[in-house]
Amino acid sequence: MSHPSSPAAHRILCVVGARPNFMKMAPIIAAFDALAPQLSAVLLHTGQHYDVAMNHQYFSALGMRAPDINLEVGSGSHAQQTAEVMRRFEPAMDEVKPSAVLVVGDVNSTLACALVACKRGIPVVHVEAGLRSYDRTMPEEINRVLTDQLSDLLFTTESSAREQLLREGIEGDRIHFVGNVMIDTLLSNLDRAVPASTVAALAGRPHFTDNEQGYALLTLHRPANVDDPAILRSLLETARLIGNRTPLLFPLHPRTRAMIERAGLQSLIDHPGILALPPMGYLEMLGLMRGARVVLTDSGGVQEETTALSVPCITLRENTERPITVEQGSNTIAGVEPSAIMAAYNKVLAGGGKTGRVPLFWDGQAAGRIAHILLRWLQERAGDQP
Ligand code: UD1
Repeated sequence: MSHPSSPAAHRILCVVGARPNFMKMAPIIAAFDALAPQLSAVLLHTGQHYDVAMNHQYFSALGMRAPDINLEVGSGSHAQQTAEVMRRFEPAMDEVKPSAVLVVGDVNSTLACALVACKRGIPVVHVEAGLRSYDRTMPEEINRVLTDQLSDLLFTTESSAREQLLREGIEGDRIHFVGNVMIDTLLSNLDRAVPASTVAALAGRPHFTDNEQGYALLTLHRPANVDDPAILRSLLETARLIGNRTPLLFPLHPRTRAMIERAGLQSLIDHPGILALPPMGYLEMLGLMRGARVVLTDSGGVQEETTALSVPCITLRENTERPITVEQGSNTIAGVEPSAIMAAYNKVLAGGGKTGRVPLFWDGQAAGRIAHILLRWLQERAGDQP
């Protein structure tokens, strides 16, 4: 409650929807709590991701409180999912009456909630603004471009983002380079990471990762890679080649598992060198990445996490919206051609893998910067006494 002689409390409605949002939001909530009572967070989950494996184990591992509000929208086409989030978010937001709505990343929930808030005149804060793959076939790229246009305050993770936002007509004083909140979470949980040997033992293959070359880790979930059976088949055949040389751990996103079954490709991953796993919890995934000789992925977040861990990463896409992971970090863009993937992989095994350096402000302090800048901005806007 605000008091006439104290600065007003600002309630921030913080939105998560899908798995990659959770590790970004956890340090933000903690940083807002640290500025209580001037800032307070209301945590809203749209329910875009709903499987226990994609949700609850993340919240508990990250020490994040359960959402105050869950819209339980579930899956659907992009239009259905986005529309359903918007339809359910509007009355929830009206009830909370926030000073601002804070969204992270680039999932459908990010755009849907930003659009509702903007049209109601509630300031929108976007964390991880300005990243661009320049590939409009990626649903996330549309979500990024539009969310940034709707946002009042834009927090960036790398310097390329500011230049991009300026090119798109966003005023410079709304853009703040604060670093990477996902790396805040990574650094604060590193000592709790679960080693790959434990994960393999729990999966009934205790000696799976015992190999003098180390092990490789694969994640796949982008529609461009898993929805087309021919591309998926080719990637899984490449995974077998890798599994012949180094043990390959392969946590399966629900979308990927469903597509493998639908395309009748299960036999490709039934291979002694491949250990297919359910979606990993945060601490398990962190341990798998940290211990890997090489990570192969189409995830944006994993490209950043491997850069922070100095573990060579081979990206199974033609582009990245996170160029700093290539310019400074440990990332190599290989695309999906088997020969290109194998060339990058062989280079790592021959000792030529990139380890890179950790980018500026990926230092564990990003969420604290966001909280201070946001509070000052809200106070100036409201004419509060500082
Ligand atoms: C979403 C994000 C993507 C992010 C990814 C991380 C968008 C456009 N995409 O993709 O940017 O990298 O999350 O996981 O927002 N499913 C389940 N259980 C769940 C969630 C999904 O079984 O809890 C299955 C359903 O079959 C669903 C499919 O996965 O149709 C896709 O889910 P969806 O939320 O549409 O997108 P993701 O592929 O998870």
